[in-house]
Amino acid sequence: MSVTSSGSATQSGALEGSNAKRGLWSSRLAFVLAATGSAVGLGNIWKFPYVTGENGGGAFVLVYLLCIAIVGIPIMMAEVMIGRRGGHSPVNSLRLITERDGLKPAWKLVGAIGVLAGFLILSFYSVIGGWAISYVGTTASGQLAGQSADAVGAIFSGLLSNPTTLLAWHTLFMGLVMLVVARGVRSGLERAVSILMPALFLLLLIVVGYAMTTGHFGQAVAFLFQPDFTKLTTSGVLVALGHAFFTLSLGMAVMMAYGSYLPKNISIAKTSITVSVIDTGVALLAGLAIFPIVFANGLEPSAGPGLIFQTLPLAFGQMPMGTLFGTLFFVLLIFAAWTSGISLLEPIVEWLEEQKGMNRAVSTLAAGIVCWTLGIASILSLNLWADFAPLGFIPMLEGKTIFDLLDFFTANILLPLGGLLVALFAGWVMSRQAMENELSLSPAMFNLWFVTIRFIAPIAVAVVFIYNLL
Ligand code: PFF
Repeated sequence: MSVTSSGSATQSGALEGSNAKRGLWSSRLAFVLAATGSAVGLGNIWKFPYVTGENGGGAFVLVYLLCIAIVGIPIMMAEVMIGRRGGHSPVNSLRLITERDGLKPAWKLVGAIGVLAGFLILSFYSVIGGWAISYVGTTASGQLAGQSADAVGAIFSGLLSNPTTLLAWHTLFMGLVMLVVARGVRSGLERAVSILMPALFLLLLIVVGYAMTTGHFGQAVAFLFQPDFTKLTTSGVLVALGHAFFTLSLGMAVMMAYGSYLPKNISIAKTSITVSVIDTGVALLAGLAIFPIVFANGLEPSAGPGLIFQTLPLAFGQMPMGTLFGTLFFVLLIFAAWTSGISLLEPIVEWLEEQKGMNRAVSTLAAGIVCWTLGIASILSLNLWADFAPLGFIPMLEGKTIFDLLDFFTANILLPLGGLLVALFAGWVMSRQAMENELSLSPAMFNLWFVTIRFIAPIAVAVVFIYNLL
């Protein structure tokens, strides 16, 4: 993590000997870059378009945007605030805040959820990261040029049907993540994010530019932004809520960990809003890039997790300089996934270091190997175990493979649950005075945030949960 090591930077109000020893982010930009690196990833470019397609478009997008605004941003502010206040790793920050204020230590649960969710998410995230790696070669070889939708679909099915190839790419992706986490060196990462994120944004714009020429751009805009509530189901609302957590990296204490390095004089509200706006912008651009291609080629919006791998290669096969742009795009997608993957593994490694006294290299190796092994189940779900739905007897989970279950359980259950606890902690447990100091908002803005975190966000999460379980 790129932090300055100025020992004099103890924050007033933070816990003794915490941030001072650990160093602080060098600037607001450094924090924004690291947090954006975590937030922007496969969730924006791979997952957002396909869950939008599966859930009928406009109404789902609207609910997702509401979840970002009403639940996501306030919870991100709470996570960053708790992290900065505690000044330690998430588990210890919560412990210290609760002990100092004489509060119950049950809040350690938030840290535990973070570690569990990190394990489970990274296991399948790395498999999809592997798909992106594989597509660099597919695109660079020029084999996509002028291909039909069927041919592009066949290339993708070919990849999924081959467990050995998938395993090789999954191993490479996991190795890349472990390498950075084991070395604990983050300084290059920020610089990478500051160059690669804008580049990814630019390439998405280029694809959107191409998508405008397909003659189906208007249809895609209507699909994404004209809500048709008849297409929205209660499970769609749960997916929208879960995706808001997933895409902003919330509910598993990542932002709490990053917040512990944030200097006191930096506005938590402004930085949280900046990160959320960039994240949402990337997702919407991805939607605008993909859906015109879907409609122009008569593909199904509800094609599922393969959607971007069946549409973008078509675009790159048809547009001028498509081989170059396509290769660059997938390289940038790997980087976006890599920075997110690192933030998924980091809390587990920190936890192992702190709780089990292992050193960084050993804890990275141990955690990485467990995630990698679990990833094999996701790989097999795509081919040999494609019809194996272990919890299919539960109506809501009918037909879900292990891969689907991991995705569902983490994004739609664990992360919102972690977020709910964070909201309850900030809204009902932490001292109001301490929070006013940390956030330094105008009284009106503070009250708006406080009402949201105390009532609105927890009620929203609870209602969505209850409706889905009934
Ligand atoms: N936010 C990442 C994405 O959208 O791809 C995924 C993610 C990273 C989720 C880190 C949760 C997390 F803690």
